Amino acid sequence: ESTALVDRFGRSKQKLRISITDRCNFRCGYCMPEDPEWLPREALLSYEELLRLAKLFVTELGIRRIRVTGGEPLLRKGVDRFVASLSALREAGLERISMTSNGVLLRRYAPALVAAGLDDVNVSIDAISPARFQALTKGDLQPVLAGIEAAQAAGLPVKLNAVVIRDHNEDEILPLVRWAYRQRVPLRFIEFMPLDGNGAWSPQKVVPEAEIIERLSPHFAIEQLPRTREPARYYRVNGDYRLGVISTVSNPFCESCDRVRLTATGEIFPCLFSPVGVDLKAPLRAGAGDAELVERIRAAVWQKGRGFAVSAGYVQRSVSMHSLGG
Ligand code: GTP
Ligand code: 5AD
Ligand code: SF4
Repeated sequence: ESTALVDRFGRSKQKLRISITDRCNFRCGYCMPEDPEWLPREALLSYEELLRLAKLFVTELGIRRIRVTGGEPLLRKGVDRFVASLSALREAGLERISMTSNGVLLRRYAPALVAAGLDDVNVSIDAISPARFQALTKGDLQPVLAGIEAAQAAGLPVKLNAVVIRDHNEDEILPLVRWAYRQRVPLRFIEFMPLDGNGAWSPQKVVPEAEIIERLSPHFAIEQLPRTREPARYYRVNGDYRLGVISTVSNPFCESCDRVRLTATGEIFPCLFSPVGVDLKAPLRAGAGDAELVERIRAAVWQKGRGFAVSAGYVQRSVSMHSLGG
């Protein structure tokens, strides 16, 4: 019998984000340091260990949705089998299995992921001009576009994520919307959050939600939709398309936060901005029973802070964004 996983502000958790690797084949400056040091293999939880924790989250703690993240989750071998093993938790109440990916390997993996039971995928695409894309990610746009197409062809619903950074890609806002609108793929812009790999964040680099919408309004009929519990606020565009903005900085949604995170090394981060995680790997490997692990998870979530405060400025954490999975 599961009882809700709640923090001391009364927010109950329904969504678990599991990062399965810190590795990535892109080098987005807003996410990782230029020359990242990868975690050694034995630092990562095995799929069996991740699954044991995921199962406790679902059966004992009321988690209903799991999102597999990275680094780039498709870089870890056997990810499709891991998704299939999560799928078995549906009987216990799991409703949705999602993934956040850079899209590069989606072309190869989309059919296997669908067969494994993945419900949807979010793909990051910060520019639609190949040169700009390359400058931002140090990678190629082409395989990402092919990956998006392959996912759709395999029947996997796709949403697009674009982080907007002043003087880097605010001129890509309009081209991205035009392209996504034509392709009929939902797109969400994300305000640059103060947790980048190089500490380059500053308030001036944030392009706030209001400005994003202002830049688009001469070109589209835009109508704001009522807020839901999702991180994105949505807008109806030309009556027949949905555009979202995740405005952590200008309009944080912490009051209704329903997430908790598990890193690839087995740490719980109750908030994206938690300065340190709570380790589950040591007890897990020391032979802790289910009840003890569940208690540790509850305790970690109970001490979750109120959330993001822009006044705090750049956030120093014990892990970089690329090991936390956003
Ligand atoms: P949906 O389930 O489709 O709403 O996915 P999502 O938006 O939660 O996940 P995704 O991995 O696509 O993340 C999109 C952006 O939202 C990324 O920049 C994440 O870092 C950010 N994000 C996700 N969860 C949180 C959160 O709890 N707090 C904040 N501040 N940002 C979040
Ligand atoms: N600010 C906002 N979004 C970020 N992401 C990574 N780092 C940041 C940041 N500093 C996004 C990625 C991806 C998602 C998992 O997190 O673009 O879409
Ligand atoms: Fe939740 Fe923390 Fe994100 Fe706020 S900043 S929405 S509390 S994870």
